[in-house]
Amino acid sequence: MKRRQFLKSAAVAGAGTLILPRVKLFGAEAPGNKLNIALLGTWGRGEAHFNAISSENVVALCDVNEEHLAFGAKKFPKARTYTDWRKCLDQKDVNAVVCCTADHTHAFVANWALNRGQHVYMEKPLGISVEESRVARANYLKNKSKLATQVGTQRHAIENFNRVRELIKDGAIGELREVCAWGNRQLPRPGYLPAEGEPPKHLHYDLWIGPSPMHPYNPGYFSGKSGMNCLQWNMYWDFGSGQVGDMGAHTMDLAWNALDADLPTSAEAKGDPFNPEVTPVKLEMHFEIPSNDWRPAIRLSWYQGGAMPESPAPFIDLKRIGHGAMFEGTEGTLVADFGSRMIFPSSKGGNMTYYKRRSKEELIPPLGDFQKQWINACKGSLKTSCDFDYNGRMCEMMCLGLVAYRVGKKISYDGRTGRVTNVPEANEFLTRKYRPGWTLNG
Ligand SMILES: NC(=O)c1ccc[n+]([C@@H]2O[C@H](COP(=O)([O-])OP(=O)(O)OC[C@H]3O[C@@H](n4cnc5c(N)ncnc54)[C@H](O)[C@@H]3O)[C@@H](O)[C@H]2O)c1
Repeated sequence: MKRRQFLKSAAVAGAGTLILPRVKLFGAEAPGNKLNIALLGTWGRGEAHFNAISSENVVALCDVNEEHLAFGAKKFPKARTYTDWRKCLDQKDVNAVVCCTADHTHAFVANWALNRGQHVYMEKPLGISVEESRVARANYLKNKSKLATQVGTQRHAIENFNRVRELIKDGAIGELREVCAWGNRQLPRPGYLPAEGEPPKHLHYDLWIGPSPMHPYNPGYFSGKSGMNCLQWNMYWDFGSGQVGDMGAHTMDLAWNALDADLPTSAEAKGDPFNPEVTPVKLEMHFEIPSNDWRPAIRLSWYQGGAMPESPAPFIDLKRIGHGAMFEGTEGTLVADFGSRMIFPSSKGGNMTYYKRRSKEELIPPLGDFQKQWINACKGSLKTSCDFDYNGRMCEMMCLGLVAYRVGKKISYDGRTGRVTNVPEANEFLTRKYRPGWTLNG
């Protein structure tokens, strides 16, 4: 029996066996029950995972920057080190992967790891194209009875996410009609950086470019502070998806968590004039989301870079909320940021008599530590709050919005087949072109 299977069956057996002493021989907290983790990206965001994964065996480290690799190796000296994540994932004892590499490699790593039977914690975003999100999600769905996944939208653990969901589901603003989320981060750039100098010896630049088309080296892509360097490359189409995959991944999650949403049936978008090199700063995208068993079909929107939804009242200045979400219902409006929320009842109706507050016992329990949730899931429960199914659909929708922006038309979408049905040329932008030698689903 493979170690991974053993860990899972041990946890299941433990759950059903009353005569076991209450010492933690099995299960998530058992001393011998440790994951063998590979950490990809050992500096920057990678460092934010050092503490969480140090409860486990960190057996492999990978970074394209050998100085950053050495930084990780100081913390985890027993781990084997790599500069190519493909070789790292082939290390036989690795059974779980935490990935903090640049966005244009995420879906690749996700698929390769799942295909090797490894659990995955993937920093957001899951992918930067519709196809990337779909393939990673499909791979997860194939493996969900044995592998745990989590996308790194750790703000999801803030209890306000639960409170917002409860208020929406319990009808505090009546029947839901429209929802939006927005973010004010602006990273304007004219185009890819011009060639400047040679990559330093410690940087494997060709591996950093990875599957994306080659662009000349410029130190500007690597000039950011630890944990913020993604802002130096994530607005270029070949390396990221701009604010959609940056703050959009967190802020749309605040809305998405309250919707039980499936893929949209349409998308339309407008913003800055299209630049083939750089994602737009100012952008708004609108989606039609099908009805489900507790709400009607809704319009869901994303605003960024100065585009903003209309405020429900002149004295509510939404611009003072840098990253927020708004839900409009038949009886009022709920406005939230990551940590707080307010309800603004509408002037007609809105008397709140229709709304029955939950008791304390009925509140959605806190998620706890977000990274720990994934670690526990790998050890048996397999349950995470932002798995590749939940987040994959959201990521696919956001990437589809970028396709609508590129073609400048309202597009109809068949989520079952993953095809745009009314604007044939849009289908070309659902995928990205990769350099020879790189396979998305390898
Ligand atoms: N969840 C959050 O709140 C949060 C915050 C910041 C960043 N992030 C995400 O984390 C990721 C990394 O962001 P960052 O700011 O640390 O970026 P970064 O450019 O500093 O990259 C992090 C590390 O990964 C290494 N790396 C990059 N590509 C690699 C590859 N193909 N193989 C191996 N190593 C590689 C880099 O050399 C660096 O050491 C991004 O996807 C970003 O979206 C998430």
